[in-house]
Amino acid sequence: AQTSVVRMRINGEERELAVDNRTSLLDMLRERAELTGTKKGCDQGACGACTILVGGQRVNSCLTLAVMHDGAEITTIEGVADGDRLHPLQQAFIDEDAFQCGACTPGQIMSGLGCIREGHTGSPAEIREWMSGNICRCGAYTNIAAAIGTAAK
Ligand code: FES
Repeated sequence: AQTSVVRMRINGEERELAVDNRTSLLDMLRERAELTGTKKGCDQGACGACTILVGGQRVNSCLTLAVMHDGAEITTIEGVADGDRLHPLQQAFIDEDAFQCGACTPGQIMSGLGCIREGHTGSPAEIREWMSGNICRCGAYTNIAAAIGTAAK
C-alpha cells in the first residue's frame, strides 16, 4: 500500500504523520496521532460520533481520507478546553445533564460548536434539526439541545 506524509495543525500543534493512503481521517487521529477522544461509532457517516472541525467546519472524520487534508487546521475534542478550564459548551453539557453513557458526547460537542458558529441556535427545534446528524442512543436530545442553547447565549 502507498503511504504518504501529511502535515496538519491539530489542536494548535504542528503534526507530521505517515499514513497509508487509504486511512480515514478518523483512524489517523485515533491510531497515528493518538487522539482517541474522537469516537468511532458506525464508521460510515451515519452517527456523528466522529465529528471534528476541519478549518472550523464540522466534518464526519470517518468519511474522509487523511491524505486529503494535508495542511489542514484540525480541532478535536482534546483541543476544546483551555488547559484545565472547560469550554463553555463542555460546562453546559455538565450543567444541563446532556449525556448519559457519554459515547456520543465528543461528537455532540464538536458538532454543537459548529452549530453555534453557524448560528443555528434560534430555538431548541432549530438546534435539534441542525444537530440531526448526531445520534444519541440514550436519547438525551432535549438536554443536548438545552446545553447548546445555553452555550450559544
Ligand atoms: Fe463517523 Fe459514525 S463514526 S458518522
